Amino acid sequence: MADKPTVQPHKGKLGILLPGMGAVATTFIAGCVAVRRGLSNPIGSLTQMGTIRVGKRTDKKKPLIKELVDIAPLEDVVFGGWDLFEDNVYEAAIHANVLDKNLLDSIKEELQAIKPMKAVFDRKYVKKLDGPNVKEADNKMQLAEMVMQDIENFKKENGCDRVVMVWCGSTEIYIEESEVHQTVANLEEGLRNNHHDIAPSMIYAYAAVKTGVAYANGAPNLSCDVPAMVELAKQTQTPIAGKDFKTGQTLIKTIIAPGMKARMLGIEGWFSTNILGNRDGEVLDDPDNFKTKEVSKLSVLEQILEPELHPELYGDLYHKVRINYYPPRGDNKEGWDNIDIKGWLDYPMQIKVDFLCRDSILAAPLVLDLALFLDLAKRSGMGGIQEWLSFYLKSPQTKKDLYPQHDLFKQLEKLENTLRHISGEDLITHLGLDYYEE
Ligand SMILES: NC(=O)c1ccc[n+]([C@@H]2O[C@H](COP(=O)([O-])OP(=O)(O)OC[C@H]3O[C@@H](n4cnc5c(N)ncnc54)[C@H](O)[C@@H]3O)[C@@H](O)[C@H]2O)c1
Repeated sequence: MADKPTVQPHKGKLGILLPGMGAVATTFIAGCVAVRRGLSNPIGSLTQMGTIRVGKRTDKKKPLIKELVDIAPLEDVVFGGWDLFEDNVYEAAIHANVLDKNLLDSIKEELQAIKPMKAVFDRKYVKKLDGPNVKEADNKMQLAEMVMQDIENFKKENGCDRVVMVWCGSTEIYIEESEVHQTVANLEEGLRNNHHDIAPSMIYAYAAVKTGVAYANGAPNLSCDVPAMVELAKQTQTPIAGKDFKTGQTLIKTIIAPGMKARMLGIEGWFSTNILGNRDGEVLDDPDNFKTKEVSKLSVLEQILEPELHPELYGDLYHKVRINYYPPRGDNKEGWDNIDIKGWLDYPMQIKVDFLCRDSILAAPLVLDLALFLDLAKRSGMGGIQEWLSFYLKSPQTKKDLYPQHDLFKQLEKLENTLRHISGEDLITHLGLDYYEE
């Protein structure tokens, strides 16, 4: 067991920078402002509302997480970001149509003051979007340097002590890991040579990690999930985490599947389909962009169910995921799951789930927790992949050759034990061996 890390106490302001200021980002920012003003509650956020058991069960100690570890308070946070559209956060939030206009109007001035910086954007990677607020340069390295300059300027203008970055931009087209992603040297050469396999999200990630700014990726793009970025993160002692916020259907999937598996109930088929009508849905309507999402969504069941260990229960599982763009629903997605399960003596049964969720309402607290925990990790000297943040992610980034952990409850255990470790508390294994006591 490693020694308890030394945590630099938080001081001054923390900047949270978001490439992509659409539905998720604006719901997150407006939500934090509303919570700060006492207008609403930060429901869904562990850093704001979660408690954690420490010590023995008989100790009855369950402090708030933010009392156990030194998390930056919401009052100290300032927000910024980039987008290819020029709308300020108030306008973008109105456009996203997630939050009530009355709420947005009550915090209008603060939201209007947050304007997106010019984006690193290329239509090749998100075919359905085009906007005017875009940087121009001869090559991708210059674009990365412009982002580094933006970060520096933002820090100065807002008097920030530290900044973290969370990608809230669109899902880009599917790109496979290739030679250019293998080493920092290859990546930097690729940036100078405008290599096709370096998408804009990777340019932001490079700019962040190179300058020691912790980075999390809320979309399924490769972004920081390549060996070169892991190497760079180690060099600069920068925490990284990805990919793809675990919100609606996949959240439910990683809650139900471990339960079925725990009881050794078989699953023959899992059909998941969604309708959604926000800009994310529009982008995902393009097959190349959907492919990136599909790969991220499909991986979870295999790891949880381990069909290779239980071929009679999960060997023939048919798993299908569909996303359909349906404008009338806006951000209020509907996700259906039909699960064909089997029990004692192979008798078939079915489970139907119809989750009428709100995409950005589920994602916003994840942005907050990822940002605040990344800042904590950075102040605790924890560089590289932050696997303990898998809890928030659909397709968790792990060390090479390790499989990701998808089971929500195992992910929570890892997150909580990491917090106990950071604060010098004993880890909890839930193994009370009191049967042997006199
Ligand atoms: N809401 C959820 O539940 C959820 C869950 C998992 C992942 N995600 C992912 O989070 C991301 C954001 O979702 P959203 O609903 O806010 O989408 P959105 O379309 O409302 O917002 C994305 C924003 O990113 C901007 N953008 C795209 N490329 C950019 C670039 N290179 N630089 C700067 N800005 C760029 C777009 O202009 C847009 O304003 C998407 O990739 C989505 O797949 C969302």
